[in-house]
Amino acid sequence: MGNSFSSKIGVLLAAAGSAVGLGSIWKFPYTVGENGGGAFIILYIACSLIFGLPLVMNEFLIGKLSRRSAFGAFRELSGTNHWQWLSWATMLSVTLILSFYFVVTGWCFYYMVEAAANTFAGMDAHQLTAYFKTFGGNANAMIIYAIVAIVLTASVLWFDVNKGIERLSKILMPLLFIMLILMAIHMLFLDGGTTGLKFLFEPDFAKITPKVILEAMGLSFFTLSIGLGILITYGGYMPKEQNVTQTSLQMIILVIIVSLLAGAIVFPAVFAYGFSPKEGPELTFVTLPEVFQHMFAPTVTSTAFFALMCVAAITSTISMMEVMVAFFCEATASTKRPLNRHQSVMVVSAILMVTNILCILSLTGHANGLNIMHHNLFDNANTLVTNFLIPLGAFATAIYTGWFVPQARYQGSRVATAVYMLLLRWMIPIAIIIVFLNSLNIIG
Ligand code: PFF
Repeated sequence: MGNSFSSKIGVLLAAAGSAVGLGSIWKFPYTVGENGGGAFIILYIACSLIFGLPLVMNEFLIGKLSRRSAFGAFRELSGTNHWQWLSWATMLSVTLILSFYFVVTGWCFYYMVEAAANTFAGMDAHQLTAYFKTFGGNANAMIIYAIVAIVLTASVLWFDVNKGIERLSKILMPLLFIMLILMAIHMLFLDGGTTGLKFLFEPDFAKITPKVILEAMGLSFFTLSIGLGILITYGGYMPKEQNVTQTSLQMIILVIIVSLLAGAIVFPAVFAYGFSPKEGPELTFVTLPEVFQHMFAPTVTSTAFFALMCVAAITSTISMMEVMVAFFCEATASTKRPLNRHQSVMVVSAILMVTNILCILSLTGHANGLNIMHHNLFDNANTLVTNFLIPLGAFATAIYTGWFVPQARYQGSRVATAVYMLLLRWMIPIAIIIVFLNSLNIIG
C-alpha cells in the first residue's frame, strides 16, 4: 500500500516536473502580455481544462495500457504500422522545441551567475532592459550558456542519473513553488501593483481575436506538454490502480497555478516599475531582477530563484532529450548501424548544438539569411511548434484514440467512456480545426 502510494505520487511529481518549466515561467507571462491580459487567461484556462484534460488523460492512458513509450505504443494499441509517421512528427516537434528551449535555459544560467555577482544591484527598468539587449546581442555568451545547458542534460542521460535528478527535483520543485508563492504575496503589497493584477484578471473580451484563441490553445498545450507523446512515457510507469483522471487534473491544476503565479509576479512589477507588458520573450528576465531588488536579501534570493528556474528548465529538457535519444536507438535498431545509448546521446547533443547555435545566430542578427518572413529562427521555431505542430500532434493523437484504438481496450464507467470518446472523436478535432481555420481567416 505504502509503495503503491509513493509510486502514484511519484508519477504525478515526475510528470509535473517535466511539464512545469519555462513554458509557465518564461513563455506564459510574455504571451499574456502580448495578447492583452485577462481575457487571454480565461481562454488559456478553458483550453487547459476542456481540451487539456482529455488530451493529457489520453496520453497517460495510451502509456498505461500499452506499457510502451510513444513509438511502440501507437503500433501496439492500434495493431498497425500506419501510425509510425506520428512518432516522426513528434520527433520533429521535440527537436524544434529544444532548439530554442536550450537557448532560454542558457539565459537562466546566465542570469543565475549574474545575480550571484550582484550585477543587477541599483539598475532601473531602462537599464535592465538595455542590459538584456546587450546580452541578447552577444552571440558568444548565449552560445556558451546554451551549450552548458545541453551538456548538463546530456550528462544526466549519459550517466543514467535521471532517477537521482528526479529525487532531487522532488525537493527543489516544491521549493520553487514556495518561492513563487512568497513572491506573489510580496507583490500584493507593492504600490501600483494592482494595475498589474487588473491587467491579469480583468477580462476585456474585445481583445479576443481568432489569432488570440490559437495562441491560448498553443500555449496551454505547450505548458501541459501535450501533443508530443511525452506524457505517454509517464503513463507507462503508472501502477494499475492509479486513477488517470485524478492524476491528469492534479498535474493540470499545478501547471495552471505555477503559470498564474509567474503572471502575478511579473505584471505588478511591469506596471509598478515602468516596463512594457509587450516587452516580448525577455519579459520575465528583465522584470525579475527588479522584483528582487525590493525583496529581502536580493543577491541570495535572486540567485536561488534563477537556480531553481534552471532546475525547472533542466527537468523539462531531460524528458524531451530522453525521447530523442530513445528514438535514435529504436529507429536505428534494425539498420546496419544501430546506435547504442551513449552514441545516441552524442548524436542528439551534436544535432541540438547545431540547431541552437543557428537559432542564436539568427536571434542576434548574425545570420539574417536564416530569417523567414522577417522573423528570426528562434521566433519561427517557437511559433511553428506552439501554434502549429503541437496542436497538430494533439489533433492526431485524439483521432488515433478516438477512431483507431479498439474501444474494448478502455475499461472505465460507460458514461465516462462515452463522454471521453465523444470529446476525442469529434469535439477536440473539430475545435482544433476551427481554431486553425479561423486564425487563417478562412472562416469566421
Ligand atoms: N511543458 C514544458 C514547459 O512548459 O516548459 C515544456 C515541455 C516539457 C514540453 C516537456 C514537452 C515536454 F515533453
